Order: sequence, then C-alpha cells, then structure tokens
Amino acid sequence: MTLSALCEQCQHCTGCGLSQTRNKLVFGVGPENAEVLFIGEGPGQQEDLQGEPFVGAAGHLLDDMLLIVDLGRDNCYIANIVKCRPPGNRDPLETEQEACFPWLQQQIEILQPKIIVCLGRISAQKLIKPDFRITREHGQWFSYNGIPIMAMYHPSALLRDPSKRPESFRDLKILQQKVSELCTHTP
Ligand code: URA
Repeated sequence: MTLSALCEQCQHCTGCGLSQTRNKLVFGVGPENAEVLFIGEGPGQQEDLQGEPFVGAAGHLLDDMLLIVDLGRDNCYIANIVKCRPPGNRDPLETEQEACFPWLQQQIEILQPKIIVCLGRISAQKLIKPDFRITREHGQWFSYNGIPIMAMYHPSALLRDPSKRPESFRDLKILQQKVSELCTHTP
C-alpha cells in the first residue's frame, strides 16, 4: 500500500458526520519518504476549501516554524487527527477522532516516520496520552509505538498568544537536535 493509494480510498470515507459537511477531505501532504511527521487537529476553512493541511494563517506560521529547524514542506509530512473540517472550527468530537484514527494509523504504518510532532493539545491527547497537559508537557519526548514523539503549541495558539513563542522556539531547537540524531536525508 502507498500513501497515494490510501489517499484515494480515504476520499470516499463516510465514517462520521463530518463527511456530510466537508467541501474537500484533507488527507495530508508530503513525500512518501518523509522522516518527520507533523500532526495537527483538523482542517479549518481554508484547508477545507483547498484540500491541503495548514494553508491558512496557522499554516503560514507553521512554514516559518519549519524553516527554523531547516525543514520545508518538501521534506516532512503534515496530517491531522481528523481529515474533514469540524463545522465552525469546533474541536473534533471523540467519536469523530475515533472514526478517523485508522486512516492516520495506516499513514504512520506506511510512512514509518523517525519522529512525530503533535501540534496542539487535541493531537497530543490522541497520540501521547489522554490526560496530556500541553502547557506542562510540550517539548518533552514520549514514545508512540517506539517512535519518538513530542508536542508543541499549535500555531493557532501562538497566533492568539505570542507570549508562548519563546517556549515554542525552544521546542523547535529540541526537535532540531533529534532530527540531527535520527534523520538521514533530512538536513
Ligand atoms: N489547523 C490544524 O490543526 N490543521 C490544519 O490543517 C489547519 C489548521
């Protein structure tokens, strides 16, 4: 199975109610050999219109964050916990996250990333632990089935509260160190 074949299957998903209101499904983007996987929460308005993750305001900030660690969109993979937009950008419901999770599990299985980065609380609570506290535990390494995983503040949170940016800068430097230890074809 390849990511593009999985993406093709996923386009027809009606696994939860979000499929009824989506404009475009947002599967994820990046090369099949990406070593670093970023996982956000779910598509917003721009993502729903364009079918790509992180293309709105938060996405522009994510691009800047990637540059700080010498990563670009062309050498990492970006996906979300849910692949269809929750109406009004509400948090995805637990039932919606559960319904969508097998798609992400298969993406991880195919990609076999060396490092996973959760963007925000929703992603960290799904992939690290249900009681994850983003304010206390961002920037720390955990394991997801043996893969090093850490969470950072979601770029939208950094747009809302710029005082969190220095902490995120430190988290990015921690990520950069891990990339230099574990990744072969990523700078
Ligand atoms: N926020 C997310 O969590 N994911 C996106 O794709 C865009 C905004």
